[in-house]
Amino acid sequence: MQSVNLGLIGGGTVGSGVYHALQLNRGLMEARLGVRLKVVKVAVKALDEPRPYEIPTDVMTTDWKAVVNDPEVHVVAELVGGVTLARTMILTALELGKPVITANKALLAKHGPELFEAARRHGTNLYYEASVAGGIPIIKALREGFVGNRFTHIYGIVNGTCNYILTRMRQEGADFGDVLADAQRLGYAEADPSLDVDGHDSAHKTGILASLAHGFWVKPEEIHVEGIRSITKIDIQFAQQLGYTIKLLGIVKLGPAQGKKAAARVQVSVYPALIPNSHVLANVNQVFNAVFVRGDVVGDTLFYGRGAGKDATASAVLSDLADAALDLKFGSKCRIPPFVPLNQGGTVMPIGEAMARYYVRLNVADRPGTMAKVATILGQAKIGISSIIQPEGHEGESVPLILMMHDAPNAALTKALAKIAKLPVVKAPPVMLRVETLE
Ligand code: HSE
Repeated sequence: MQSVNLGLIGGGTVGSGVYHALQLNRGLMEARLGVRLKVVKVAVKALDEPRPYEIPTDVMTTDWKAVVNDPEVHVVAELVGGVTLARTMILTALELGKPVITANKALLAKHGPELFEAARRHGTNLYYEASVAGGIPIIKALREGFVGNRFTHIYGIVNGTCNYILTRMRQEGADFGDVLADAQRLGYAEADPSLDVDGHDSAHKTGILASLAHGFWVKPEEIHVEGIRSITKIDIQFAQQLGYTIKLLGIVKLGPAQGKKAAARVQVSVYPALIPNSHVLANVNQVFNAVFVRGDVVGDTLFYGRGAGKDATASAVLSDLADAALDLKFGSKCRIPPFVPLNQGGTVMPIGEAMARYYVRLNVADRPGTMAKVATILGQAKIGISSIIQPEGHEGESVPLILMMHDAPNAALTKALAKIAKLPVVKAPPVMLRVETLE
């Protein structure tokens, strides 16, 4: 049986998780693949750092180059994160013609094309199943399982921290700040939570999914990103009354064709959206992730699982190891390239042009004529109102007014809301959230 040896860079939570998972299921994997698998070297920060699973001292080193350059190492897994040294590590391994596995979504978002080009130039491959939605095999699904589909819609709950916070806000009627503080105390949110709660981590993952789905590389700065800091318990409650749940979504929607030969125009965004309670995505709670994919042939599909954590991530890394091992076994160095540009390419649609329905909450003076003033501005902007609620029990100088809007371009609604905000009867900046019906 052919042997394939893995070298790990990173022996912390993820690295030791991979080491442990391979020990656990090595026999099973070897039987399935017909390849003998072994971790021969692990680069760690410090030999005595605490780690959830033990790694034997005789395979550990503190020198990542000793892993990459070891002729006994056939496949390298970069599991340290960051976008500087990790880039050098990966490029060094690729230059040696070694397949590389990474879980590093931030690095791919920033340097993906450079790394893919390096893999191509050196006749090897870069695998990144663990970079999006942890243990959910969504990269493999998009590249292989759905190869016969054009992707019209992808909606992902791809950040466990945000999903945990929004779930608890809904279940407990709690404020964002209180739940975030508790999540930090429990270890579900980082001390600096901005990568997660401001939507950037979701944007890295959404960009990777959009790029794979549509065959042109989406740059992080092209993605419209809104996080969850501005979500209040009052909006969660009103959404609930209207039959919706608020989730932070990564959204990839194929825009309408602009001619037979025109390149695809794709909405790629991250924002909190109201989704119908009756949809399965609304019931993806706590730290779980889910990705909903609609293909023109397959129809609607849904993937659910843990998006982070040592074991879920290890499962994805082992899947990549299996692919790398089979490539080496059969000499098919790059059976599926890491990224395949499609001939026509495509462009990211500016958010202003994206169509959506909307939930708008205004704080208005409780006096006759207020509604007429608001409705006039919306009417002039050709934005239709689908329902209005002014809840009872909010007596006083100002009261909440909830408006649900029909489909309209983002730019048109933003402009109308700017005018509405200036009305003397409007007492606070309008709150706007998009509604994704997932139809
Ligand atoms: N911090 C991420 C999350 C996991 O909360 O889902 C790593 O991307």
